[in-house]
Amino acid sequence: MSDELASILAGLRRPQKTISPKYFYDEAGSRLFEEITRLPEYYLTATELGIMQAHIGEMADLIGERASLIEFGAGSGMKTRMLLQHMHSPAVYVPVDISGDHLIDSQRSIQADFPDVEVIPVAADFLHPFELPRPRTMPLRNVVYFPGSTIGNFEYEDALRLLRVMHTEAADGGALLIGADLQKDPAVIEAAYNDGAGVTARFNLNMLRHLNREFGSDFDLDAFEHRATYDRDERRVVVELVSRRRQVVAIGGAQIPFGEGESIVTEYSHKYSLDGFAGMAGEAGFAVERVWTDPRRWFSVHYCTRP
Ligand code: TRP
Repeated sequence: MSDELASILAGLRRPQKTISPKYFYDEAGSRLFEEITRLPEYYLTATELGIMQAHIGEMADLIGERASLIEFGAGSGMKTRMLLQHMHSPAVYVPVDISGDHLIDSQRSIQADFPDVEVIPVAADFLHPFELPRPRTMPLRNVVYFPGSTIGNFEYEDALRLLRVMHTEAADGGALLIGADLQKDPAVIEAAYNDGAGVTARFNLNMLRHLNREFGSDFDLDAFEHRATYDRDERRVVVELVSRRRQVVAIGGAQIPFGEGESIVTEYSHKYSLDGFAGMAGEAGFAVERVWTDPRRWFSVHYCTRP
């Protein structure tokens, strides 16, 4: 049995069943996620973009001359483009992603629009330290970029571990520019993960189709439903697939029983206070030098330095 299948089975045998969110992102899943970012209820993407638009000049000034931009997760989105456009003679753009396909797409589209910027993709699992490439122009500072509040999809200890990798890659004199979604009216948060058009439900359920295809499991997509609730004590959205009835699912030669109403947790999305986020960044060795928010204080972008 592959390690991958073994770890899926281990997750499904826990008292609270879980499956890693990495299985969201097959081709259909990536398309559905793009669609989520454009939903009226999903305020995160538009709000973060608004913050960038309002403060991009100041961001570029803080980043300074001839910096390298190291994006955790292959980017090609609006926010990455805005940064490269406003940065002062960027030395190099380094998208880091575990998927080669995403990297090639990112490199092609960024290189086409920024012919003067060297683009060097790195295929790596960024949960562990990796070696940075040597650009033609020696950067004066490494700036790690991690938009989208993806940090919130990690539980505290894992988020801390990831921030420490970022701290390592930023190196002496480097910085981190990172988006973090903020605590707010739970109704607003819950709506963002339960859109009226049902895109998020399709995105969540698509994970089961992906597993069926890749691991030969027999999840019945009609026998599960999407649920996303805000846990006020833990300050996080819990995204689940809930079994509509008692059933047994076959996967990798194993039989996994489900009770009616039993769930699989597929994602957490933590929501921060500004102080809470600064505290976590501080534990990883960063100091928050500047933080920007939108007028409603729904989302935040932090510029963290290595003091
Ligand atoms: N980083 C995104 C977030 O936490 C990921 C995401 C958006 C997501 N919508 C989702 C994950 C729905 C699972 C289900 O907001």
